[in-house]
Amino acid sequence: MTGKEKKFLVLHGPNLNLLGSREPDVYGSLTLEELNQMLQQEAKKLHVVVDCFQSNCEGELINTIQAAAGCYAGLIINAAALTHYSIALRDTLAAINLPVIEVHLSNIYAREEFRQHSVIAPVVLGQISGLGKESYLLALRALTLQKKRERKQEAEER
Ligand code: DQA
Repeated sequence: MTGKEKKFLVLHGPNLNLLGSREPDVYGSLTLEELNQMLQQEAKKLHVVVDCFQSNCEGELINTIQAAAGCYAGLIINAAALTHYSIALRDTLAAINLPVIEVHLSNIYAREEFRQHSVIAPVVLGQISGLGKESYLLALRALTLQKKRERKQEAEER
């Protein structure tokens, strides 16, 4: 894999900058920086490159996703609370031609009713929920495999 083909963007939504101190019984004790470091380590093992970005602002996440379309091979997103209501975010994910994996640290289906619906789930490749930091690490593996599959298919069609 070369250049853009092996670059993935990990997006963290509102309040995930508070990981480590925010409801540790639900989200664990790992800080966002530690989580990003783990992703970098996993990326090295997989021979891919990962950039991480966190924002508390819906518009900033949307601008970042739009810009990502030309620079990255895929996205991993924990949209946090935006997962449950942001049609704008859903429309952006649907508009870009990139594989996206939605992740959640907690199992959103085992929590309050308002968290049990994801408006972005229908427009992403897949969703991993409830496995803590493993949700992100597995998503990175899955995206890497997905890109390999796509390349193999392209080569077969040539
Ligand atoms: C979350 C679950 C959301 O419901 C919540 O608003 C978050 C984090 C998770 O990772 O478990 O901020 O996306």
